[in-house]
Amino acid sequence: MMGIIIKNAEQIDKMRIACRLAAEVLDYITPFVKEGVSTEELNTLCHHYMVDEQHTVPAPLGYGEPPFPKSICTSVNYVICHGIPNEMQVLKSGDILNIDVTVIKDCYHGDSSRMFLIGKTTPQAQRLCKITHECMMRGIEQIKPGATLGDIGYAIEQLAQNSGYSVVQEFCGHGIGEGFHEEPQVLHYGKKGTGLVLEAGMIFTVEPMINQGKRHLRILSDEWTVVTKDRSLSAQWEHTVLVTETGYDILTISPQTGRA
Ligand code: MF3
Ligand code: CO
Ligand code: CO
Repeated sequence: MMGIIIKNAEQIDKMRIACRLAAEVLDYITPFVKEGVSTEELNTLCHHYMVDEQHTVPAPLGYGEPPFPKSICTSVNYVICHGIPNEMQVLKSGDILNIDVTVIKDCYHGDSSRMFLIGKTTPQAQRLCKITHECMMRGIEQIKPGATLGDIGYAIEQLAQNSGYSVVQEFCGHGIGEGFHEEPQVLHYGKKGTGLVLEAGMIFTVEPMINQGKRHLRILSDEWTVVTKDRSLSAQWEHTVLVTETGYDILTISPQTGRA
């Protein structure tokens, strides 16, 4: 395989642009994410924003085998990830939803996802979304040259487990650049001080999937939609992160709010 690509200054500049654009799609779609809208409508809005306004390419469209049929992933309630936008799926009060956006600009990929809470959600659903964000941030905060991938996974798993939740093991973060999914694999569980030692210039995602119930999953017959086996709620947040000389730089911060 290719191995891990340490990005140079020029590649980092291009990644900064792609990642900002991914975050801008999420900022753009936010006011539309409401009770009564279908996930298909959200897909159509994002698709046109990417293609017509940003002149970016939606990386999910046609990706993989079978080819992913839409331009974003929309994962509602017990869907862990890779939910396919659908006109029959209309958001209702109480739903929680992950929107995952990956754009390609000038050959480079930017990948980010956020949770959205629809109408009046339960305290349990709110807590799951909040702690999943904290899990992602705890993982990201470990990042600096000399730290290991195991440090990231350990930090995420500790917080998830101490909060009474489980970490999905079958899907993970990934290196990203000219490739959508590059090496290394970034597991969201692990042991401190183990695994790959981080170096400045690495770029990868941190994107923990955290379940309210057990960690086990099932893939639907569409071969994409990943759901919790016990139908418990699942949440996910994702950032693309650069390892810097002194720590980390989150490349997919919201330009609108300045928040991670
Ligand atoms: N964006 C997802 C990730 O974070 C991958 C989606 S693959 C797709 O890695 F084909 F479903 F879009
Ligand atoms: Co990703
Ligand atoms: Co993603």
